[in-house]
Amino acid sequence: MSKKTIVNPKLYEIIENAPEEEVSRQEYFIEKLRDEVEIREKRLGRKLKCMVNTFGCQMNARDSEKILGILEKAGYEEAEDEKHADFVIYNTCTVRENANNKVYGRLGYLGSLKKKNPDMIIALCGCMMQEEHVRDKIKESYRYVDLVFGTHNIFKFAELVVNSIYTNKQVMEVWDSTDKIVEELPIVRKYSFKSGINIMFGCNNFCSYCIVPYVRGRERSRKPEDIINEIKTLVNDGVTEIMLLGQNVNSYGKGLDNPISFAELLGQITKIEGLRRIRFMTSHPKDLSDELIEVMASLPKICKHLHLPVQSGSTEILRVMNRKYTKEQYLKLVDKIKAKIPDISLTTDIIVGFPGETEEDFDETIDLVNKVQYDSAFTFIYSKRTGTPAAKMDNQVPEDVVSKRFDRLLKVVQEISSERMKKLTGGTVEVLVEEINSQLEGYVTGRLENNSIVHFKGEHNLIGQYVNVKLDECKGFYYIGSMV
Ligand code: 5AD
Ligand code: SF4
Repeated sequence: MSKKTIVNPKLYEIIENAPEEEVSRQEYFIEKLRDEVEIREKRLGRKLKCMVNTFGCQMNARDSEKILGILEKAGYEEAEDEKHADFVIYNTCTVRENANNKVYGRLGYLGSLKKKNPDMIIALCGCMMQEEHVRDKIKESYRYVDLVFGTHNIFKFAELVVNSIYTNKQVMEVWDSTDKIVEELPIVRKYSFKSGINIMFGCNNFCSYCIVPYVRGRERSRKPEDIINEIKTLVNDGVTEIMLLGQNVNSYGKGLDNPISFAELLGQITKIEGLRRIRFMTSHPKDLSDELIEVMASLPKICKHLHLPVQSGSTEILRVMNRKYTKEQYLKLVDKIKAKIPDISLTTDIIVGFPGETEEDFDETIDLVNKVQYDSAFTFIYSKRTGTPAAKMDNQVPEDVVSKRFDRLLKVVQEISSERMKKLTGGTVEVLVEEINSQLEGYVTGRLENNSIVHFKGEHNLIGQYVNVKLDECKGFYYIGSMV
């Protein structure tokens, strides 16, 4: 029998006594959640388990670390799979339609698990929840989902879970925006030696195909001192590689009371002792400054890797995409970067089949890829996102045409990537060992400064260490090497 009632006096009491200040408030709700977890543990005679399932980008991965941090603080242990979990949360992505479909598919399965374990709590958060039509569908067809929240109130997670536990209705709280940045809550990092750090949230660019500005809101930068302090704490805790995260890091700092540029921020971060590698993503080509190129060229801690999404090689398509640069401007920028940082590794994102893309437009993309010689590229089939300007364009490209173009592009991208990788074969490079290789027994996996991966013989004790590895063989998109 459920202990829940519609108007629960206990919930009122809990809320009445909650502190106002946000961090103390959430810590208070974590304690309240912990009390409930203990009650359930006693009743079941075992520990409670949780599962945080992440879709999408690095920002979501970082948010999931926060969610897991709170759940572990409240007493949950990580489950091996959803079948054994008492709390399942999906941190969703909605950049492309197939990500949404995956979530709906999995929800049916979660419903069947909940029938067997009625105490199971199912929660959904992330970008997909910011969309009204998604929330309507969940209200209508997935009543067994206990809690839904969005990207702006993730810091309220503990409070929302407590609300959900003491209410016998689906709790759905999604905000359109926020000016709050609450970052001091518990966190469980996936890797002890590397970490992502949010430096800004949201996006102001409104590329015509992209839903991100609608679901993540306007650009907001964190204060440099908060970022620096967070990195110092991480470094004290054993982190040596960081990834600065934002939808468009090149416009970092613009809205701050004391505006500073991204290059200046990097200059400050690089001074932190004990930090060895600094990465960042994503860079918008229109905002990439000469100052940033200089800083990358001169500061050795900054990895010589730049993810510079081009999206298309056709100036006309770029115009309709609202990218604010031409093919020629992009190529000029690439030339400038290569001239200043000859060993730079360049990667990109490309969309195939944007509305109105002709064969000639697509040829321009192939031409650009050949000219830039990317180390790797993420290629996406255009996905129509309700609410974006491109979704209303009537000249959508037929599926079979898109599919042929996609295959053609992938082949070109892979050939170039493999050629680029071969250039380093035989050489010795420094790698940060990340994990035990799950496919090759007795092997570990390390990451090069340029973001490539190498598998080589090694043991658990190497994880988190920097070692020199000879790249013996190139296997297309990874290397097999040996420690020297
Ligand atoms: N369809 C296909 N790909 C998209 N991306 C963003 N929106 C869409 C869309 N509607 C891709 C872009 C972006 C990456 C994160 O996802 O290439 O850089
Ligand atoms: Fe989307 Fe463009 Fe913003 Fe990137 S820059 S998140 S593609 S709107």
